[in-house]
Amino acid sequence: MSNVRPETMERITTPELAAAFIEEQVKEVRAQVGDKKVLLALSGGVDSSVVAALLIKAIGRQLVCVHVNHGLMRKGESEQVIEIFRNQLDANLIYVDATDRFLDLLAGVSDPESKRKIIGKEFIEVFADEARKLDGVEFLAQGTIYPDILESIKQAEGKKAVKSHHNVGGLPEDLKFELVEPLKLLFKDEVRVVGEALGLPHAMVYRQPFPGPGLGVRCLGAITRDRLHALREADAILREEFAVCGLAEKVWQYFVVIPDIKSVGVKDDSRYEGWPAILRAVNTKDAMTATIEEIPYAVLHKITARITSEVEGINRVLMDLTPKPTGTIEWE
Ligand code: XMP
Repeated sequence: MSNVRPETMERITTPELAAAFIEEQVKEVRAQVGDKKVLLALSGGVDSSVVAALLIKAIGRQLVCVHVNHGLMRKGESEQVIEIFRNQLDANLIYVDATDRFLDLLAGVSDPESKRKIIGKEFIEVFADEARKLDGVEFLAQGTIYPDILESIKQAEGKKAVKSHHNVGGLPEDLKFELVEPLKLLFKDEVRVVGEALGLPHAMVYRQPFPGPGLGVRCLGAITRDRLHALREADAILREEFAVCGLAEKVWQYFVVIPDIKSVGVKDDSRYEGWPAILRAVNTKDAMTATIEEIPYAVLHKITARITSEVEGINRVLMDLTPKPTGTIEWE
């Protein structure tokens, strides 16, 4: 398959068009890989999940999925990957809990780009360690989509990326695989239609974008396990409440950030120091600019009450009302 989307290629907007695309890709993938094994880093994000479901349909357990939990996932995310892929789709899934490896390396590191580099590099190392344990793998599947191809063309033309984004490209020299990239000519909306046609849950296919370095860039400064735990719990409350009031469908990206500062608070008649949880909810088309979604006060009050009473270590809740520009979407 070439890297250029033909002008005549019809936009995949309906289940029927998705079914035709799936049928064609199943044939292509079978012809490409024969009876060999294919490896896939399955993060649980939309693109890798859709590739996994498509390849399971094409080659079943010849696909070996590796899910690396870097300890920076949101609450329940790794469990959902295991439930859907291993339990429901009978995937050949290797689950690696690498939390300690990542958090030990990140201890004391406060510079955002250094954190990103450590997470990206360690991710590749953990994945490569798993790949070396397997026999007979000749192919690597990736959830590359058309905007990624367009972005690489731009970068090759010398335009600088604002932040370093990581994926599994750049594996060590001893691991040479042929790539399988069945989604590389699709736009994101088409990937979602294909995902639903493959039977993946709506919530997974339409989930908000989540950065590769995960909660690592939302636990600001040097990550500590207690603050990371508080962040994960507070973020889960925000997501639950947005789902209940229908905002999850309307807001492009929403999450919690916890800075490395404390303020004084009061609980059971005594003063104590706690972190603030900062809520962020933005809408955008392409993540280059973003606007602020208006959140009803009743929802904000409920989220504040829940976070401050349910999450150990947090004593205040703040809302970030800054559009992009001047703020970026993430805080790091
Ligand atoms: P910013 O903060 O630059 O974010 O306005 C724009 C979009 O990119 C996501 N983002 C990342 N995604 N790795 C990723 O995979 C990263 O290091 C990273 N940093 C930011 C961010 O969540 C938003 O959707």
